[in-house]
Amino acid sequence: MAKIAIVGVGAIGGVLAGILETSQAHALTLCTRRALYALTVDTPEGAVSVQFRNATDPAQTEPVDWILCATKTYDAVSAAKWFPALTGPETRLAVIQNGVEHRENFSGLFPPERILPVVIDVPAERRSETQILQRADAFLRVESSPPGSDFASLFAHTRAKLDLTDDFLSAAWAKLCINSAGVISALTLKPAGILRDEALGEVALGLIAECVAVGRAEGAHLDDGTGERILAGYRAGSPDSINSLLADRLSNRRTEIEARNGVIIRRGEKHGIPTPLNRMAVALFNGMAT
Ligand SMILES: NC(=O)c1ccc[n+]([C@@H]2O[C@H](COP(=O)([O-])OP(=O)(O)OC[C@H]3O[C@@H](n4cnc5c(N)ncnc54)[C@H](OP(=O)(O)O)[C@@H]3O)[C@@H](O)[C@H]2O)c1
Repeated sequence: MAKIAIVGVGAIGGVLAGILETSQAHALTLCTRRALYALTVDTPEGAVSVQFRNATDPAQTEPVDWILCATKTYDAVSAAKWFPALTGPETRLAVIQNGVEHRENFSGLFPPERILPVVIDVPAERRSETQILQRADAFLRVESSPPGSDFASLFAHTRAKLDLTDDFLSAAWAKLCINSAGVISALTLKPAGILRDEALGEVALGLIAECVAVGRAEGAHLDDGTGERILAGYRAGSPDSINSLLADRLSNRRTEIEARNGVIIRRGEKHGIPTPLNRMAVALFNGMAT
């Protein structure tokens, strides 16, 4: 049995809590800013009611084996306020966020050698503070290493699919390629079905092509069919699916535009690669938010 604390019990933190609950193998502490009395995850296999200890203050916690941090990328500093009380000499931090800056975001906030970046693929939405909708099985990718294997073992006997990879950099950029096209939903305020539109499909391919070019310059292996494959995936998926950028925009919350499309521009500049479509998407997005 592992002691696990989840910091960031939104859509992804909630999904992870629901998955871990099904193993019946761990002691879960959910660290939240407001008291949480119940948590239900509606999964494709039915509702999972999570059994947990809730902490609303770091003083209510003790060191754990794993901290799973699933806050938004921009909340790293505030999430880190939980770490001192949760951290013992062996505690590891799994950063389960979008983007390609998992380690950078927590630089100086946790011992770097004990940080494990995680890529997660799962369509999930927070319906309320106590109810999460998980639309499909979760796929998690981590580096092939002793911490990666240890993390994977937490999910033994659950429906989550864990992939250990020797090339995490490519996995993170491949996910960013998917997310780069998600900005179209957030700009049009329409769920994923909007990418079935021919003209917007072309825009999606352009956004992804820029991400592929920058990712390759960063050392990621991304094949020439990446864009077409991603667009086909969007078109085959649930047309009602709402990505977290759109969900945040609809709720007037701060968004991860910097971690999803902004980073493509920034890393592109570093390598002298033009990224006009991502640049325009970010400018439009920020312009609409003001
Ligand atoms: N949703 C998806 O389908 C999906 C899929 C793959 C990856 N992702 C990525 O996963 C990450 C999490 O996304 P999400 O959709 O789960 O976000 P979310 O629903 O907004 O959840 C984030 C949670 O973090 C909490 N939080 C922020 N600062 C905190 C702090 N200092 N202490 C405790 N809790 C704190 C928020 O609490 P409050 O309620 O108090 O604000 C919120 O519950 C993002 O990087 C996202 O891009 C999301």
